[in-house]
Amino acid sequence: MSALTITIDGPAGVGKSTLAKSLAKHLGTPYLNSGSLYRAVAWKVSKQGVNTDDEDAVLALCKTTNFLLSLQGDYQSVVVDGTRLTHELWTSHISLIASEISRLPTVRTFLRPIQRHCGNDKGIVAEGRDMGTHVFADAEIKVFLDASPTIRAQRRFLELQGHDAAVSHETAASELMERDTRDANRNSAPLRPASDATIIDTTDLSAIQVVDAILALIKQRQIKHRSDPTPTIDTTKQSLASY
Ligand code: DC
Repeated sequence: MSALTITIDGPAGVGKSTLAKSLAKHLGTPYLNSGSLYRAVAWKVSKQGVNTDDEDAVLALCKTTNFLLSLQGDYQSVVVDGTRLTHELWTSHISLIASEISRLPTVRTFLRPIQRHCGNDKGIVAEGRDMGTHVFADAEIKVFLDASPTIRAQRRFLELQGHDAAVSHETAASELMERDTRDANRNSAPLRPASDATIIDTTDLSAIQVVDAILALIKQRQIKHRSDPTPTIDTTKQSLASY
């Protein structure tokens, strides 16, 4: 069991979830998908018809909502006011609202401790946009994933199909570009690599190759910084769905 905190940041569709879940499984640490928390707020905002430009109203709604994140290995459940949310978090509508409310500084500040609380003595693999820059700024391992827009659009399209979200490839591609532009250009915790992150371009890499690269990074850091023996990880036993 590892007590490492590992952050995986990057734009939409880059393959963060596949990799973060796989790593969490290997290392026996909980897995945090921080985007689902922003999606949960977006779901409530949409349900209540709150204007996403009205920061005070969105924050007030956050404060009166019960968010329950439960991390079980590589699985995460999101319960909002007693309702367990799954596929409804993954519609195009919710993706857009999540990106809109995520630019509100007070909302980010509200959600930060909830995310931090997920890190514990078992370590964590946390994915999102600001895991390495803000939420887990002291993480031992920080990775920033990137890939060409074409590949990301394709991966996002496949991911959405896995969530039963009916969108065309073209829609998935244009929504992704719109969200990335907003996420990267906002003032509050914009999407960008931490100064001490390792950047991996995954355009021409399979999911297994990226996992291997991150495991190698972990091994390297552990040898450098710890006297503990490095955990033995048999990467040949992985069975990962392709992106
Ligand atoms: O990872 P995702 O696509 O499910 O994230 C949905 C939106 O939430 C994304 O467009 C921006 C926001 N987000 C964020 O601002 N910070 C995070 N750590 C995770 C997600």
